[in-house]
Amino acid sequence: MGVKIVDTSLRDGHQSLIATRLSTKDILPVAELLDKAGYHALEVWGGATFDACLRFLNEDPWERLDAIRKACPNTKLQMLFRGQNILGYRHYSDEVVEKFVQKSLEHGINIIRIFDALNDLRNLKSAVDATNKYKSQYDGHCQIALSYTTSPVHTIDYYVELAKEVEKMGADSICIKDMAGVLLPSDAYELFSRLKQSVSLPLELHTHCTGGIAEMTVLRAIEAGCDIVDTALSPLSGGTSQPCTESLQYALSGTEYDPKLNLDYLKKACEKLTVVKDAFLKEGKLNPKALTVNPNILKYQVPGGMLSNLMSQLQGQGAMDKYEEVLREIPRVRKDLGYPPLVTPLSQMVGTQAVMNVLFGERYKACPKEIIEYLKGNYGKAPAEVNEDVRKKIIGDAEVITYRPADKIAPEFDAMKEKYGDICKCDEDVLSCALFENVAVKFLEAKYAPKEKDEVVEFNVVIG
Ligand code: CO
Repeated sequence: MGVKIVDTSLRDGHQSLIATRLSTKDILPVAELLDKAGYHALEVWGGATFDACLRFLNEDPWERLDAIRKACPNTKLQMLFRGQNILGYRHYSDEVVEKFVQKSLEHGINIIRIFDALNDLRNLKSAVDATNKYKSQYDGHCQIALSYTTSPVHTIDYYVELAKEVEKMGADSICIKDMAGVLLPSDAYELFSRLKQSVSLPLELHTHCTGGIAEMTVLRAIEAGCDIVDTALSPLSGGTSQPCTESLQYALSGTEYDPKLNLDYLKKACEKLTVVKDAFLKEGKLNPKALTVNPNILKYQVPGGMLSNLMSQLQGQGAMDKYEEVLREIPRVRKDLGYPPLVTPLSQMVGTQAVMNVLFGERYKACPKEIIEYLKGNYGKAPAEVNEDVRKKIIGDAEVITYRPADKIAPEFDAMKEKYGDICKCDEDVLSCALFENVAVKFLEAKYAPKEKDEVVEFNVVIG
């Protein structure tokens, strides 16, 4: 049996290269073609897509999902789900997590890929339990993704032990999520060989081309027994995105790993997506830097999405000349914080802290409030010891919690429903408000306003 392929163009591909700006109008004609190409699944929702719909595109993310589901009757749809953070940047109450899982499945998601930035398994439990509770009703599948990084604590043994634990927790498959694209080919071979011996679940690899090694890494993982790999259609592949789907199909064609994708449909989908990509290039919304191989990330461990965010932060401040300096500061911040893997939301937090440390000319003179919360334990347990001098400088003698952060979060859904009863017409609207209160409320007010009041709403973004 050949290797299975998940196409990420319509989620991670555009999240990594064009700040998640594909509209539903751009997506649907491509999705219809990909649906016929023989994929294991299409990753189309979750991650930053939900926020970007509401904040930048004036689109209802639930309606987008419905439209994609309708356009793809043959293929499983996959979403990325950040454990207790759902699709947002803080922890939500257990019942909001459960409701979001159930509604995602109801609207057509099959595979829910659940991860926690810190690999703190306590932060996955609600989402995993909810997926397992509802999956038979909706043809669902619970995948747990392990955030991959390297550090003195993130060894191959660490990942093997973690994989055994998530198998016990109720995962249907396991993904190694290498957000930064730092998994080396030889390490991938060893890691997947060890995982294959240690767990009985299907294994998947998600990596990024940022450092120029992803294709090699994917091939070595496949040779070691990896069952599923993530790739993106050529126009949204490479650079800070995933390896190219078509190229992998050509490379493996006729071998024992042949994914057997239909290249005619891929070509047609590629043509449609190329027109869209060219428009983004022309408007300057696709920074050519994001498409360039950057071997430095193998040293700094900066994920693709984070690189494009950093560039726009620095451009906004007129400080692009500080780019290399910020890249050098990132690993130092990471060490101070106990080696968190650089995945959302920690990638934005560490990135913003590094930018502040450089621009203020003094380390930790100012901090994003999320870093303060992290140091108080409110994101979960840091993988390694935190630098106590840094912690003291930032939070003083404030309490550091050791229980699961969501334990103290009271149910939120009903309160939200009551608060916005006149704006929300369904539970999906309430969930949008629960996740992104300010932007969702503005969006829904405009959406349901009488026609003559319709106007373009401009949102201000604060990420980090
Ligand atoms: Co990714």
